[in-house]
Amino acid sequence: MDGNGRWAKARGLERVSGHAEGAESVRACLEYAVEKGLKYLSLYAFSEENWNRPTQEVEALMELLMRYIEQELPLMMKHNIRCIALGNRSRLSDSVNAALDSVMAKTAANTGTTLVVFLSYSGKWDILQAVKKAASQLTPQELLSLEPQDFERFLVTADIPDPDLLIRTSGELRISNFLLWQGAYTEFYFTDTLWPDFRKPQFQEALDEYARRDRRYGKVK
Ligand code: IPE
Ligand code: MG
Repeated sequence: MDGNGRWAKARGLERVSGHAEGAESVRACLEYAVEKGLKYLSLYAFSEENWNRPTQEVEALMELLMRYIEQELPLMMKHNIRCIALGNRSRLSDSVNAALDSVMAKTAANTGTTLVVFLSYSGKWDILQAVKKAASQLTPQELLSLEPQDFERFLVTADIPDPDLLIRTSGELRISNFLLWQGAYTEFYFTDTLWPDFRKPQFQEALDEYARRDRRYGKVK
């Protein structure tokens, strides 16, 4: 989700107003995911690198996140949405962690769309924590014979499938340390639309484009 700051700047507003409007896009896209019967909707909400933003903006983002979780809980329950948060949780404040634990517990038994919120996440961090976990749990012999499918269960995404489609808004053409391992065969969709302007029609356009892709996974037809 990129372009909140530019959306605000173009209107002479503070960056935080762009984030607030971006939260409306999250709501719209989540609703659409439910309508479309998507099994997973993942949001790269806050990267490990985002910690380097001014404290005031980081705090505003965390506030917004907590408010969003609180406000959306009834809708999540109504639409049978399960919410999970993945990332370096140790860097998040106690209040953010408590809000996340609460929404995860309350929606744990829901069986519809899973909303995955990536928070304080980076792909390099994920791979490294997986390596450390594997090294602490496996014997040297097991480590030496690790296959990709054995390694994957140490990533924080062990319980969810690899993404089929990755949408990046605001005209930026890079992965910015998102799902580096899991995105090996993900289809990429780039759009100039800024995240606060990305709503149902834009989401539909991305899904239509995805439906036209030919996924061969390195094989021939
Ligand atoms: C994305 O919008 C929001 C988060 C990273 C949480 P930006 O804040 O990166 O917006 P731009 O890139 O400055 O326009
Ligand atoms: Mg940005």
